Amino acid sequence: MLIIVKENYDEMNKEAARLVADRIRRKPNLVLGLATGSTPVGLYKELIRMHKYEGLDFSKVVTFNLDEYIGLPSTHDQSYRYFMDTNLFNHINIQKSNIHLPDGMAKDIDAFCDWYEEQIKKYGGLDLQVLGIGANGHIAFNEPGSSLGSRTRIKTLTEQTIKDNARFFEKLDDVPKFAITMGVGTIMDAKELILLANKANKADAVKASVEGPITAMCPASIIQMHRKAFVIVDKDAASKLSQEYYG
Ligand code: F6R
Repeated sequence: MLIIVKENYDEMNKEAARLVADRIRRKPNLVLGLATGSTPVGLYKELIRMHKYEGLDFSKVVTFNLDEYIGLPSTHDQSYRYFMDTNLFNHINIQKSNIHLPDGMAKDIDAFCDWYEEQIKKYGGLDLQVLGIGANGHIAFNEPGSSLGSRTRIKTLTEQTIKDNARFFEKLDDVPKFAITMGVGTIMDAKELILLANKANKADAVKASVEGPITAMCPASIIQMHRKAFVIVDKDAASKLSQEYYG
């Protein structure tokens, strides 16, 4: 595990984008796992800039997103597909057929989850997975208590997550109650991981993940078992770490 502490959000994004771009240049058909949420938006902006001004080529890159709400069509402005289109895909030269997100409208969710795992395998597995982290240590929709060996499956959102998301919807009842998420085991099978965190509200989760015991109560702590994980954080998110790490 390489912990890289950057001065601020911009520097964190540049470091992460350098790493992603390097892997794409080395392997143009990289199988790239992506996350949604506020954290990776800056990384996506930097990748778009690199595509526009430095010729970073996404034409052969294959992507798999971590998660998606159940019941929201891809056209819904709160769906993760919509988020990815507006924050990344619409601005780079990725082929639409190379984009994969869990299908929140799938008729048979269990069959879809098995199919998603199969697709990842078909492409030779995830080369690099980008992760954010929840303040409670969740990764994707794997909340505390999730099996550390779990695979892609349906999850019920916690009361807290539903409340947190309510601000994006007209009323509480409109907030999806379920999601499809890659499992912790699916994420751990990626050849490399980048976990990003910024802001002080992530400091406890970062400390628990990097320096705490490995426990299902903090799903992100499993990255301590990964062979090649980069934890790239800003100073605020690193503020509770007890050791000195790379700048
Ligand atoms: C989303 C995802 C989530 C977020 C996490 C942090 O695809 O995987 O686990 O990474 O909830 O969200 P932000 O970045 O909004 O703080």
